[in-house]
Amino acid sequence: MAETVLITGVSSGLGHGLAEVFLERGATVYGCSRRKPQGLVDKGMRFASIDLGNAAGGGSALKEWIAPVSRFDLVILNAGKLGQIRDMQDAPLEDLRGTMEVNVWSNKWMLDVLFERVSMVKQVVAISSGASLSGSRGWNGYSISKAALNMLIKLYAGERPDTHFTSLAPGLIDSAMQDYLTNLPADDRFEPLEILKAAKGTEQMPDGKVCAKKLIDAFPSLLDLQSGGYADIRKL
Ligand SMILES: NC(=O)c1ccc[n+]([C@@H]2O[C@H](COP(=O)([O-])OP(=O)(O)OC[C@H]3O[C@@H](n4cnc5c(N)ncnc54)[C@H](OP(=O)(O)O)[C@@H]3O)[C@@H](O)[C@H]2O)c1
Repeated sequence: MAETVLITGVSSGLGHGLAEVFLERGATVYGCSRRKPQGLVDKGMRFASIDLGNAAGGGSALKEWIAPVSRFDLVILNAGKLGQIRDMQDAPLEDLRGTMEVNVWSNKWMLDVLFERVSMVKQVVAISSGASLSGSRGWNGYSISKAALNMLIKLYAGERPDTHFTSLAPGLIDSAMQDYLTNLPADDRFEPLEILKAAKGTEQMPDGKVCAKKLIDAFPSLLDLQSGGYADIRKL
């Protein structure tokens, strides 16, 4: 696999698994996050520490980092922030803004820099979530941000016919995000918590690397779908 791939959020969970599997399959991998995953760097990943919550600093770091690249076969917009599970009325505006900054707007400025600096981006997969559609009580800013991400991707697809775009829900992943959710006390208001607690430790919730293999095998088939659409790996 002589592909060049860019992945955001490589320090843990799904992003770490994606980077690891692509490296094992011989791809050139550009990976960013705030924390440095030394094991992936030792395996040859080209890493940049970029805070996706900081558009001004992040944009210039991104330009410098990708300067040697003229083509990305695949860009995976994976980094994401959950925020706290609580009712909408209890969610501080600042917290919601912070979630939108990472889960939505960072992907806008990243795509803008990529299209300005790289002559070819073949495929973009934005990691979305079933929460973008479900609107479950408590998933406040996360659900809003993932719904907005789906629309951001659709809008870019309309502007960029030479690049194929998908928003992809990856299913459940046993990651830091799920550690937080499954350790919350039971609360009747937030129904999905019981389902997640039951899935933890079972094959319903694979680790980042197992999930990454499934996704990587599915990426080529996404090209057959209409660009800009939403797909769920569990339904492909
Ligand atoms: N886990 C699930 O069951 C599940 C289900 C549906 C969708 N998803 C989606 O899958 C994706 C991966 O989630 P995960 O479960 O693997 O979560 P995770 O283990 O918490 O990893 C999140 C990644 O995003 C990066 N990130 C967060 N804030 C960032 C920031 N400000 N700047 C740069 N990077 C940042 C983190 O890196 P640093 O902290 O080092 O910056 C980390 O590498 C997310 O988009 C999530 O919404 C997850």
